Amino acid sequence: MNVETVENYPALSATVAQSIIDAVARKPDALVCIAGGDTPLGVFSELVRASQNGNVDFSRVAFVGLDEWLGLGKADKGSCREMVWGHFFNHLNLRDEQICFFDGLTKDPATECQRVDEYIAAHGGIDIIVLGIGMNGHIGFNEPGVATNTGCHVVDLDDVTQAVSVKYFGKPLPVKQGISLGLKTILAAQSIILMASGEKKAAIIAKTRNAPVSSAIPATLLKPHPHLRVIVDRTAASQL
Ligand code: PGA
Repeated sequence: MNVETVENYPALSATVAQSIIDAVARKPDALVCIAGGDTPLGVFSELVRASQNGNVDFSRVAFVGLDEWLGLGKADKGSCREMVWGHFFNHLNLRDEQICFFDGLTKDPATECQRVDEYIAAHGGIDIIVLGIGMNGHIGFNEPGVATNTGCHVVDLDDVTQAVSVKYFGKPLPVKQGISLGLKTILAAQSIILMASGEKKAAIIAKTRNAPVSSAIPATLLKPHPHLRVIVDRTAASQL
């Protein structure tokens, strides 16, 4: 697994944003998926700026969400919906049909999974997906031990994920499950970017690079993908 190292978080954000801009230039009606969470926030800012400056045209692009906490909606600070709309979608001029995002408040998660799977299929699959990595190596909410042949699915959240969740919500919330794109869908993407920033991600980036491909560390499952880029900043690379 080749790991590209850039100087710092702004450089990481700019590099990943440029990959999206290039993908959209190549395919103006691309289906794009960008993770929620803290890591992509700089990518969102770069893309909003590029859109406002006319350096990228999102008018024909479609976006699909990666995951969501079950039981949380737009009004909940730290939900994926609240973060991605607040930092990204609200600043672009998108039509409703350009966005497909999990409804964390759904009473019928199976139908919600089917809706998202069908949106992806109708767009011919994901063209480019930008992923963060959890402290436990999770990808989206694909936690350690995950099955690799799944489309969208409901997940029991790992203890590590539940503990980390406080940083988004500002307080402990009783979130026990998530809803997520599955590994089958993620690995079917034309290109994958895994990004990581900061000292706290150094250990899991090193483990991911050194470990064999196995669902024990879900990020290792990305390694066989022919168009995977792993891009990290210097601090996240510090244990390589
Ligand atoms: P983070 O989350 O970007 O907030 O660190 C990454 C993840 O859990 O996948």
